[in-house]
Amino acid sequence: MTTWNPARLPRQDNRTFVVTGGGAGIGFFIAEQLASTGAEVILATRSEERATRALETLAARDPQARLGFIRLDLADPASIESAAAEIGALPRLDALVLNAGLKPQTEHHTSVAGDELVFGTNQLGNFALIARTLPALERTPGSRLVTMGSLGYTLARLDPSDVDHVGRPYRSLPLYTASKYAQMLTAFELDRRLRAATSPVASVVAHPGVAMDQLAPDRRPALPYVPWPAYRAIPARLFSQGKDAGAWPAVRATLDPTVNGGEMWGPRFLSSRGAPVRERLPRKLRTLELAREIWDLSVSRTGLDPQPR
Ligand SMILES: NC(=O)c1ccc[n+]([C@@H]2O[C@H](COP(=O)([O-])OP(=O)(O)OC[C@H]3O[C@@H](n4cnc5c(N)ncnc54)[C@H](OP(=O)(O)O)[C@@H]3O)[C@@H](O)[C@H]2O)c1
Repeated sequence: MTTWNPARLPRQDNRTFVVTGGGAGIGFFIAEQLASTGAEVILATRSEERATRALETLAARDPQARLGFIRLDLADPASIESAAAEIGALPRLDALVLNAGLKPQTEHHTSVAGDELVFGTNQLGNFALIARTLPALERTPGSRLVTMGSLGYTLARLDPSDVDHVGRPYRSLPLYTASKYAQMLTAFELDRRLRAATSPVASVVAHPGVAMDQLAPDRRPALPYVPWPAYRAIPARLFSQGKDAGAWPAVRATLDPTVNGGEMWGPRFLSSRGAPVRERLPRKLRTLELAREIWDLSVSRTGLDPQPR
């Protein structure tokens, strides 16, 4: 593995990256780091107000940054369709970073399409976006689709016949971990399909480890800044990191020429914090049958099937 310094990224002039959820959290820092390379970076977010604050903060830090905004709500099929049309109209698309994700909720909600909201956003919304943007990625040689996974997959129980947990008391954490696991399996299944079709696109998974707002640097007004005092921050830093460092694996998965499709990148120390490194894929992420079942379920729920050309 080559050495990689997150603070000295290779120049990417003339390249274009789209970061979903780039107006908040880890996505903001992914956008900031990618923009520092000279690339054009487009935030695809559901809140124009938050995107505007993020764009102003990024531009204030780096007046040379080339930035844009596309409205995207992953819980709304019509929004995904119009965002994908805008993405498809870009002259090039070197990477789509699927960072946006809905956290565990306090109560049951549904997406516009009527699916349980967490699974509907994280798995089905991202699946639809992949299907609709794959042609744009395939037009740009060497392009990548980077899916933001989660260590939560280790806890996940994913039953393709019961992804909405119908008829059970609402427990959001299992829905969240199952949705992130489904996203990761989908990314690996997509990579197998891309390779079988000799597509020029690579599908890669990154995960941030454990990344906290309270350990991240000041990026007001884009992000709230409520740092922990040292007595909390120092012990927390043993097993977690700021969202700026949480961005590193996705940024490396986007930029490093040694990255290949089908790989997973995460933090070095206990997969929780530290420098971004390639990780071994445990058996739970190599299950072909479950990946195909989740793919088929996602096709039937969204009516879309990502087809390499
Ligand atoms: N933080 C961690 O330790 C951790 C660990 C494992 C995995 N992850 C993953 O890393 C990614 C970023 O996490 P984070 O900690 O930065 O979370 P965050 O601060 O809650 O940010 C999540 C982002 O996703 C966006 N989003 C949520 N629902 C959306 C929708 N329907 N359509 C479009 N965008 C939507 C949010 O937009 P709004 O600003 O409009 O809400 C926000 O920009 C997520 O995929 C998460 O699952 C995080």
